[in-house]
Amino acid sequence: MNGQLLQGKTALVTGAGSGMGKAIAKLFAAEGANVILADLNEEAALQVVAELPEGSGHAVQADVADDESVAALVRETLDVYGAPDVLVNCAGVPQAFTPIEELTLAQWDRIMSVNTKSIYLTTRHAVPHMKAKNKGSIINIASIAGIRARPGLNAYCASKGAAIMLSKALAIELAPHHIRVNVINPGPAETPMLGKFINGDEAEVEAGKKDIFISSVPLGELIQPEDIAQAALYLASDLSKIVTGEVMNVDGGRGI
Ligand SMILES: NC(=O)c1ccc[n+]([C@@H]2O[C@H](COP(=O)([O-])OP(=O)(O)OC[C@H]3O[C@@H](n4cnc5c(N)ncnc54)[C@H](O)[C@@H]3O)[C@@H](O)[C@H]2O)c1
Repeated sequence: MNGQLLQGKTALVTGAGSGMGKAIAKLFAAEGANVILADLNEEAALQVVAELPEGSGHAVQADVADDESVAALVRETLDVYGAPDVLVNCAGVPQAFTPIEELTLAQWDRIMSVNTKSIYLTTRHAVPHMKAKNKGSIINIASIAGIRARPGLNAYCASKGAAIMLSKALAIELAPHHIRVNVINPGPAETPMLGKFINGDEAEVEAGKKDIFISSVPLGELIQPEDIAQAALYLASDLSKIVTGEVMNVDGGRGI
């Protein structure tokens, strides 16, 4: 689909160097947006920019868990394409299945910082510019793990559950400014992240993808990054202009 649903809009997408963030950036650019592709991995973000229509993408190296880095990211967005109309918080880190007594404080802090604190930081820095426009759409990529637990995913589930509730709190707070805040909960998705949930060698990871993940999806297949991008396009565009505080499971029925 190559339309103009996001014509003239500025979209800031975190985690845009890989997986779902990459698919979102590509679809948004195809729909007419100017896209800032933020990622810790600058090389990866630059590679995605090279795949976009000329002039429609700009890569920024940023750590979404770091306040200064996020402040600089929003400043660069303003300089390059102007105030963001759309913010997609997609950057995230997985957790390899770990019993709670073996989970280190450093692991806990990292997962909560990248998956949850990041939403507070990007929103805090972007929202004043959205308020000035009296309009905006914020899309937070949480996880079906935020509403349906799995053993050994303690910190990850907590980080995504918090992301969902933070999104709802922001949706009600920002509604008077016509800034919508919605959540997408992906189910197990075919991206570089999926294998990282499993402890083990390559063969164990491949077996785990089938035994643990595909078998947990009622529709019987892994979610594709493009499936998430289509949902994000709906939430970013005016097609969803009356939708806020919504949590959309894009998960092949995993959350049922
Ligand atoms: N893959 C799945 O099965 C799955 C399922 C449910 C939810 N999710 C969530 O979807 C989102 C996207 O995941 P994905 O599968 O596309 O993963 P991915 O690993 O393919 O991409 C994640 C991107 O985030 C970037 N990133 C990580 N930490 C960062 C930081 N501190 N600052 C900036 N960028 C950072 C990485 O460099 C990478 O490019 C994540 O929030 C993830 O938790 C994934």
